[in-house]
Amino acid sequence: MMTDALVKKAARDLCASRNVAALTGAGISVESGIPPFRGKGGVWEKFDPMEYAHIDAFMRNPEKVWKVFLKELNEVVQKASPNAAHMGLSRLEALGFLKTVITQNVDGLHQAAGNTDVIEFHGTFARHRCLECSRTYPAAELNFSRIPPRCECGGILRPECVFFGEMIPPHLLWRSEQIASTCDILLVVGTSAIVQPAATLPVIAKHSGAKVIEINAEPTALTDSVSTYCILGKAGEIMSGIIRELEASM
Ligand code: OAD
Repeated sequence: MMTDALVKKAARDLCASRNVAALTGAGISVESGIPPFRGKGGVWEKFDPMEYAHIDAFMRNPEKVWKVFLKELNEVVQKASPNAAHMGLSRLEALGFLKTVITQNVDGLHQAAGNTDVIEFHGTFARHRCLECSRTYPAAELNFSRIPPRCECGGILRPECVFFGEMIPPHLLWRSEQIASTCDILLVVGTSAIVQPAATLPVIAKHSGAKVIEINAEPTALTDSVSTYCILGKAGEIMSGIIRELEASM
């Protein structure tokens, strides 16, 4: 089916549901200027994740990981603002269709767009925690001109994200699985669906009888096996198209 027809179909499917959830990944924030992890221009093209995004690597040398890797990513994230795809999901909540956004992103852009129930599956860069005394600070209160940023006690701060080698907080995993198994549509936007356990959520949704509507720049591991259908294109354009159709039909 052509993109326009799929956009119309998604609008019709969403319109017939009151229990929609979304799972988002780095692709939804690309139009906000935040690079994805995989593929062309991806963060992991430049950095080896095991050297810079694994908790053991960070704990071995937090200064190096901050200076080489986190500094740049943190700067991009702190100045980004929501794009049309985030706004589309926010509108979908305001219209009464979308209940929860489960995001793998650490950029806080779903909350900035206005979504009120956001599960930050991989944590956030909006708060930082001291490695020594565990005091936490909102990013807005920190001065990142000195890297690594430090606590008042002198300890180095870490973002409250999930590094590789760390567990997803069990209550977030449990709730996300509950949502995936009870929603009637799971919108999967801008994720390569490679990293576990997030990649299992669409599979849980499918096996629980939900429609899985994928929106992505390219086909993924889900496209042929899990997704009910996949709309290929930029998340911002596709989400705007869906909202336009939906509002026109209400
Ligand atoms: P990836 O970088 O793996 O995948 C991003 C997906 O978005 C790719 O399939 C792209 O084709 C697609 N994409 C790019 N631009 C897009 C656009 N404008 N509109 C729609 N789609 C677009 O990102 P994630 O799946 O989020 O984890 O990666 C999952 C996890 O791997 C991250 O949370 C991070 C990373 O390692 C940790 O750091 C623990």
